[in-house]
Amino acid sequence: MSTSRFARLRLGGLGAAAIAALMISAGGFGAGAEEATETLESIPPGEAEQSREVSKLTTEAQTKRAEHVPEQHGQILRGVHPKSHGCVRATFMVDEHLDPTYQVGLFATPGRTYEAWLRYSNAAVLREDDLEADDPAQPDLRSNGSRGMAIKLLDVDGEILNQDQGHSNQDFLMINTPQFAFANVRDYLRLNRALMLSETADSGAAFFLPLKLKSEGQPLPKGSDPVFGDLFLDFDEAVDLANTKRTLDVINKEIKTRTVRNPLEVQYFGAAPFGFGPDRAMKVSAAPCMPREQEPFATVVKGDPSPNYLQEALTATMLGNDEVCFDFMIQVRSGADLEVEHIENATTLWPDEAENYQRVARIIIPVPQDPTAADVVEQCEAMAFSPWNALAAHQPLGGINRLRQPVYIESARHRGALGTY
Ligand code: HEM
Repeated sequence: MSTSRFARLRLGGLGAAAIAALMISAGGFGAGAEEATETLESIPPGEAEQSREVSKLTTEAQTKRAEHVPEQHGQILRGVHPKSHGCVRATFMVDEHLDPTYQVGLFATPGRTYEAWLRYSNAAVLREDDLEADDPAQPDLRSNGSRGMAIKLLDVDGEILNQDQGHSNQDFLMINTPQFAFANVRDYLRLNRALMLSETADSGAAFFLPLKLKSEGQPLPKGSDPVFGDLFLDFDEAVDLANTKRTLDVINKEIKTRTVRNPLEVQYFGAAPFGFGPDRAMKVSAAPCMPREQEPFATVVKGDPSPNYLQEALTATMLGNDEVCFDFMIQVRSGADLEVEHIENATTLWPDEAENYQRVARIIIPVPQDPTAADVVEQCEAMAFSPWNALAAHQPLGGINRLRQPVYIESARHRGALGTY
C-alpha cells in the first residue's frame, strides 16, 4: 500500500421493536499538492481507536452469525451485504469525447475500456428474504432494505492504494441511496456495539434506544452497563442524539421508500466522497441508461414477491436478449466549495447534489450470461471489494471511508475470500 497522499488535519471536538429490521436495512445491519488537500479531511480525536474496535466487532459478529444462524451452516460470510443477487461480467468504457476537466485518474484516457465484475446485493447482515416483515404481528407490512452494486474494474493504470490479491483493481461500492445512514466512525461504533447485544448480531434496535428513552423522559444510562455493555460509554447527548435521529430519517425517508423491482433498473450512489486528483473531491453514481420507473412499494408487496425476487429478476434479464447498461457519473468539487461536514459526515448531501452528476463512462453488461452458473457463484463469493482498492487519485475521503480501510480487509480475511481475477 502506498502512503496516504492526503495530509490529515487533527481537529479538537466533533462538531423499538421494529427498529431491528430498520438497521438491517441500513447497510449494517445493515498527495502531491499537500497544501490544498489539508482542507479535505478532518480527523476527530480517538478515531483510530474507535476504528480498531469496529474491526474487532465486525469479525466477532461474523463468527457469531456463523455459529448461531442455522441457515449459515457454520459458514462465515461477508460482515455486511452477504446476500448476493448475482455477479455479472461487464465492460466499463470511458467516454470517447470526455471533457478535459474530467480526464483524471481512472478517466485520464478517453475511450479506454476496462473489464469489470459487478456484484448486486442486499445490505442486510443476514441472508434473509428480500422483503422482511419488521413485526411478526403484522406479516403483511414488509420492509424495503438497502441494495448494493459493487463494481470491480480490472487492471487499471497508475499508483494503487491497496493491491487486490496482487492486482491493480479499482472498486466502487455503491448503494441505492445518495446518503449513507451513519455519519461517522463514532456512530458506526455505537451501531456495532448495539448489534453485538443480539444473539445473531443482526439487531441494531439498541442503537435507537436513546431516542426512545428521551421521548419517554427517562434518563440515559451512563458508562458501562450490565445490560447495554459499552453502548452508552462516552455518549454525548448533544451530538449523538441528533445523529441518531438523522440515521432514523435516512432509513425511513430514503432507504425504506426506494422500492427495487430489479437490481439492474435503479440508480446507485457511492454516498461517501473520494479524491479526484490531489486537491478535489468527487462523488460517484451509476444510473441505468434507460431508466424504468419502479413500482410503488404497495404494489410490489401486493405481488407477494418470492423471498429471492431480486435474484430472480436479475437472472431473467441476464438470460434475455436486451443488453443492459449504466451511465457512470461523477461530480467534482474543490476543497474551497466544501465544508467539513461535506467530507466527514456521510449522511450529508452536497449542495444541489442531485442536479450535478456528469456522465464520464458507460458500463455495458452483455447478455446472455448466467449469474446462477456454479463457477460464477463461486467467483462471486470469493471476490472481495473495498473502496481502498483504488487509484491514489481516487483516495476514499472522510471518517466513514477511513473506517472502511481496515474493516473490509478484516471481513474478507475472516471469511477466507481469496478471489482470483
Ligand atoms: C458510503 C458508505 C458505504 C457504502 C456505499 C457501502 C457499500 C457496500 C457494498 C455495496 C458492499 C458489498 C460488496 C460486495 O458486493 O462484495 C459492502 C460490503 C461491506 N461493507 Fe460497506 N458500505 C459503506 C460503508 C461501510 C462501513 C462504514 C462499514 C464498516 C466499517 C462497511 C462494512 C462492510 C463490510 C464488512 C462489507 C463486506 C466485505 C467483505 O467481506 O468482502 N461498509 N459495502
